[in-house]
Amino acid sequence: MSTVSQLQSITLHVNGQSYMVEVEPRWLLSDVLRHQLGLTGTHVGCEQGVCGACTVLIDGQPQRSCLLFAVQADGAEIKTIEGFSSNDSLTDVQQAFQDRHALQCGYCTPAMVVTTEALLERNPNPTEDEIREALSGNLCRCTGYQFIVEAVKDAAERRRRG
Ligand code: FES
Ligand code: FES
Repeated sequence: MSTVSQLQSITLHVNGQSYMVEVEPRWLLSDVLRHQLGLTGTHVGCEQGVCGACTVLIDGQPQRSCLLFAVQADGAEIKTIEGFSSNDSLTDVQQAFQDRHALQCGYCTPAMVVTTEALLERNPNPTEDEIREALSGNLCRCTGYQFIVEAVKDAAERRRRG
């Protein structure tokens, strides 16, 4: 039996740019970001909503891009890790992660940074419990989390200092 692909035209607003893309309705947003738009900073781990590696901001909220079809994001404002710095320099959050040794293999890190950005946007001075709660959907196999929590505290402090 042959399958007929049905491409659908959608517009994704990603990191301030608009992209018209042709997608099949079954294609995941994570795959379209990576393979159609070349935004490979969004990582894919479990592809079933567990690890959080694919987290991006959709209309300002962290969401797992592996749990959304790209067609569901038609017209939405999406921000990926690539959208947080406008040049090659690190953001304050990224610098805090580096300075606090909050990464090892780095696979979880883009999503950790994206989730941290969303947290600091809504809560510039989070407690440790609030940080752990915010990051509870982002799994890291390497660090044991303590350094990540320290990095988020550090980033919050840097941002409050300006
Ligand atoms: S790849 Fe999306 S949650 Fe794991
Ligand atoms: S640094 Fe390796 S999974 Fe988090």
